[in-house]
Amino acid sequence: MDLGLDLCGLRLEHPILNGSGTFDAIAARRAFGDELDARLPFSLYVSKTITPEPRAGNPAPRLYETPAGMVNSIGLPNKGLAGFLDDDLPRLAALPVPLCVSVMAPSRDGFGVLVERVAGRVEVAALELNVSCPNVHSGLIVGERPAETLALLGSLRPLTDKPLIVKLTPNCADPAAVARAAEEGGADAVSLINTLRATALEPRTLAPWLGAGSGGLSGPAIRSLALDQVRRVAAEVSIPVVGMGGIESGADALAMLSVGASAVAVGTASFRDPLAAERVRSELAAALDLRGLSGLPVAGLVSTSS
Ligand SMILES: Cc1cc2nc3c(=O)[nH]c(=O)nc-3n(C[C@H](O)[C@H](O)[C@H](O)COP(=O)(O)O)c2cc1C
Repeated sequence: MDLGLDLCGLRLEHPILNGSGTFDAIAARRAFGDELDARLPFSLYVSKTITPEPRAGNPAPRLYETPAGMVNSIGLPNKGLAGFLDDDLPRLAALPVPLCVSVMAPSRDGFGVLVERVAGRVEVAALELNVSCPNVHSGLIVGERPAETLALLGSLRPLTDKPLIVKLTPNCADPAAVARAAEEGGADAVSLINTLRATALEPRTLAPWLGAGSGGLSGPAIRSLALDQVRRVAAEVSIPVVGMGGIESGADALAMLSVGASAVAVGTASFRDPLAAERVRSELAAALDLRGLSGLPVAGLVSTSS
């Protein structure tokens, strides 16, 4: 079955991507060598979010396992822009699929530097804007406010013709309003959902388990919520939507596509099984075949109103 699609002008072999920060392709190269090229289960590789300056990340512990997912407070450890361009970009560019670089900065100017420098590299096919960071000027989380998101896109859109994908946060009153603002500002696509704000306690002391005090919930626990937010966002924008949140099977991917996602990202599932996304793709192909479909898109397969 041909699962190929066009996503913001990028020709992809199939609709399964990785969620930023959930599959370390550089570590996978160390573990699997050249076999990684043959087995990489994603059609577009999304890097872990990078920031202008290096970050050490949050204090340990950074992970807490829940009955149906996990809470993480990794805190975006990364080498910063210069370290990324020198060390990581050449290695990620060797992957056999297009590269999307996830970026985040605490100011519009900082975002501008990241977008200009990263988009200027031929190895980079697209950028994902992680807008979950507070704006240093307003103190507001950019991705929680449509006006902040619109203003950010207004300053970044003129800097590159490469696809800009805005990664939406679920931690706001109206993700669809933020998605509309991203579209109005010239975003080529939106992706959602990022993790949900969450807390875990050490059972004996009742002190926060995570070194950072709290973190973000991901995995199957958030799947229904993600499906709902993707459905609402896809109904309101005409740019492509990348759906994620608890995807573990072909049935989960089909559900995301049927509510309007153009592509689907696998995140937490890759920690348990680095080839989970390969299984998701083959199960999706089988599920489409069962329904007499020979490929994408599948939106509109069923009525999803109300
Ligand atoms: C350990 C971990 C690290 C993550 N790092 C990032 C990141 O650097 N940037 C980002 O935009 N999202 C990050 N995410 C969020 C995922 O990309 C994804 O949006 C979220 O986990 C929901 O999908 P899932 O339930 O399939 O994991 C991270 C998630 C996890 C679990």
